[in-house]
Amino acid sequence: MEEKRNSFRGSLGFVLAAASSAVGLGNIWRFPYLAAKDGGGLFLVVYIILAVTFGFALLTAEIAIGRKTKQSPLTAYSKLKKGWKPLGVIGCLVPAIIMPYYSAIGGWVIKYFTVYLTNQGSAASQDGYFSSFLGNTVQPIVFMVLFLAACAVIILMGVNKGIEKSSKVLMPALLLLVIAISIFSLTIKFTAADGSVRTGLQGLKIYLVPSVAGMSFSSFLGVILDASGQLFFSLSVAMGIMIAYGSYVSDDANLVKSINQIEIFDTLVAFLAGVMIIPAVYAFAGTEGMEASGPSLMFITLPKVFTDMGFVGNIIGLLFFAMVFFAALTSGVSIYEAIVSSVMDQFNASRKKSTVFVGLYALIFGAAVCLGYNKLYFEVKLPTGSTGQILDILDYISNNILMPVGAIGTCILVGWILKPKTVIDEVTKNGEKFSRKYLFIALIKFVVPAILLILLFKSLGFFS
Ligand code: PHE
Repeated sequence: MEEKRNSFRGSLGFVLAAASSAVGLGNIWRFPYLAAKDGGGLFLVVYIILAVTFGFALLTAEIAIGRKTKQSPLTAYSKLKKGWKPLGVIGCLVPAIIMPYYSAIGGWVIKYFTVYLTNQGSAASQDGYFSSFLGNTVQPIVFMVLFLAACAVIILMGVNKGIEKSSKVLMPALLLLVIAISIFSLTIKFTAADGSVRTGLQGLKIYLVPSVAGMSFSSFLGVILDASGQLFFSLSVAMGIMIAYGSYVSDDANLVKSINQIEIFDTLVAFLAGVMIIPAVYAFAGTEGMEASGPSLMFITLPKVFTDMGFVGNIIGLLFFAMVFFAALTSGVSIYEAIVSSVMDQFNASRKKSTVFVGLYALIFGAAVCLGYNKLYFEVKLPTGSTGQILDILDYISNNILMPVGAIGTCILVGWILKPKTVIDEVTKNGEKFSRKYLFIALIKFVVPAILLILLFKSLGFFS
């Protein structure tokens, strides 16, 4: 039985749903960390320039392809052009690889939320707490299942009752929490053991003022590549999601306006996440504390900061992990939906069956990711130079290899085979004004594929 294709009720619903996919763990822990590492304000400037060019071009192309074909990522490309199914397969493979590990991390977030809910923040800030949690064979899997179940409930409720409605509540709530914690962060004043006083405002200065001292041309190139990789992940492009969400947008919605709003929202939350995290970490942990990256920033450094805050720390910790949970949940839902919609379109399966099937898949591979920290532990050296476990391998294959390859494919298809006009016609079909039209053409044909190619080479271990 074929079900009627769901759609978003209004433009606002679509914008919030797409933004809720875009706003995720990437905005909250990866962006602030990269900004601190890459010269503060310098990174911000580079990122914003890339967002309104590079990010805008890819986002526009994908959303337009989705709305034009009304298909899921797996089936959209071949509908546009015969023989382009492999690109659809990549577009569906990326979320399928990301989903298991994103769910595992989603489980970690729920775990920390429960820690603050039960007032155990000080235990969680002890050395070794996070690694002993990961070393447990059962707990991380249980929390991951909770995360998957929460996503599945929203997916089962469908595109408007589930995805659209939940985004309308969770996104404003998230924004309020980020703003509230940011304000708190800026008021911090901490006296260290050696008597020196560090304030949140000093931390803000480190975040905002571009630091170019000692920067060579090649490290500047590194900043650009970091920023483009981050943007890519942050906007949820090249993973089929924006095609799936684009396919649910009504034909009379103004895509040009919606795309601007999605970009602004995503960038705003990433920027505010920096205002929230960097001043607090700087005040309590100094410059060294800020160098902590990745999972350790969120699950090791921040819990220590919350404990140092004393009494309010537990409340701030609770609000913080609630907010991170909202961000992770809505992104998790979008990854889940990209795969479910592909299964539905490809096999003509019902939403319910597809949801259960995809959920079981994620459960099995997600459990393997969790066990990768204990029973299935091994370490490999990745071409990027870092060592990693199962999670890092999946992350590497999806983000560093398949996403650039898929996005280059999209640029070739849109820029050279179908011609940019296909996308331009789609976004202007109700007479919308598309002021970045020529910019779009130049970007999609030349600039974006060139940057992507460099990113891909870098991932493969060239010029490192
Ligand atoms: N864009 C999300 C973020 O910034 C991440 C994400 C990845 C979302 C994969 C969906 C799929 O965290």
